[in-house]
Amino acid sequence: MSILAIYPGSFDPLTNGHVDIITRGSRLFDRIVVAILVNADKAPLFTMTERVEITRAVFKDQPNVEVDTFEGLLVDYVDRRKAQVIVRGLRAVSDFEFEFQMALMNQRLNDRIDTIFMMPAEQYTYISSRLIKEIFTLGGRVHGLVPDMVEERLRQKVSGERKQ
Ligand code: PNS
Repeated sequence: MSILAIYPGSFDPLTNGHVDIITRGSRLFDRIVVAILVNADKAPLFTMTERVEITRAVFKDQPNVEVDTFEGLLVDYVDRRKAQVIVRGLRAVSDFEFEFQMALMNQRLNDRIDTIFMMPAEQYTYISSRLIKEIFTLGGRVHGLVPDMVEERLRQKVSGERKQ
């Protein structure tokens, strides 16, 4: 049986921690779908089109990584895709409480879907999209924490704001 995994999230923006989890997932499962939630945040930094474009560009050479978007309940999307697994990254114990709650709620909503937690490489355990946005907008360096394409797009956004 081939295993299809769904890696859901906001990815605003994609970080090297996400990239690490997707790469690990692509080695473990037959296919992994990066599923970007539509409307996760009413004022995202990156539009949905940008997030899809960036993620597709980063994984263009990995044929078993697909990028898609979803709306509504995650378990309904997973069911529609006939996937068996939800992948979530766990960086620290502090992530665990919320992730555990979500995994159990999703299990209650659909008992045929299992959540698999994966740990990123140690150097990515302190990265989050929220911190990346904050650091960059305040003029800090995010080099090495996000894919080059994200860094470039962040730079364009900040210089666009300065021109206004
Ligand atoms: O990257 P994030 O913001 O941590 O991802 C959270 C996400 C998208 C996985 C979660 O908010 C989600 O699954 N939203 C879809 C709506 C849903 O199914 N909610 C019930 C979760 S138990």
